[in-house]
Amino acid sequence: MLKIVVCVSGGGTNLQAILDALESGRITDTEILAVISNNPGAKALDRARDHGIPAICLSPKQYPDREAFNEAFTENLTELGPDLVVLAGFLVRIPPQMVARFSNRIINIHPSLIPSFCGVGYYGLKVHEKVLERGVKVTGATVHFVNEGMDEGPIIAQKAVEVEEGDTPEILQRRVMEQAEWILLPRAIDDIANKRIRVVDNVVRSCS
Ligand code: GAR
Repeated sequence: MLKIVVCVSGGGTNLQAILDALESGRITDTEILAVISNNPGAKALDRARDHGIPAICLSPKQYPDREAFNEAFTENLTELGPDLVVLAGFLVRIPPQMVARFSNRIINIHPSLIPSFCGVGYYGLKVHEKVLERGVKVTGATVHFVNEGMDEGPIIAQKAVEVEEGDTPEILQRRVMEQAEWILLPRAIDDIANKRIRVVDNVVRSCS
């Protein structure tokens, strides 16, 4: 049984996609130990509580400085003891000590085709704003392992989504979620739970 902790910052539609996939059997052999949010008002925390999953708020604002938050965040996660940490719309930079402790055991969903539209300053709706500003015709989403870089870890899966005439950032964000994110993230968790992928020389390979 793969034990996971899901980290979220806002609406939690990706968390909902994971919960739905667990219920329908599209994710197997997996248990959510807890949901952690940096944002006390995150709707995602309610989604967790509605499913009887411990919902934990850990905000940087509760700590004297960033390093104290980083330490507390890493300690809390370590105590929960997950096999995998899933960043499902988590907009806080993962502390280096946590990346080191959970090497190749943290995955993230990013709303673009990495290495386009990623890195510092590219998160949430901002990604789709930049996509529309640049005028690219195809965007998408990526699930990847988290390393010490920003959106730079080994890529697990990607899916392309067309940009359409008249798109607003909100419309495009919704399409990328529906056509890519909510499919890719549950599938990646199921692939890891069922040991279908592994990382070799910084590249994700199929085990079959
Ligand atoms: C999602 O689009 C996710 O890909 C993005 O934040 C949104 C969260 O939505 N994550 C990032 O931008 C990470 N760099 P949700 O809370 O409804 O799942």
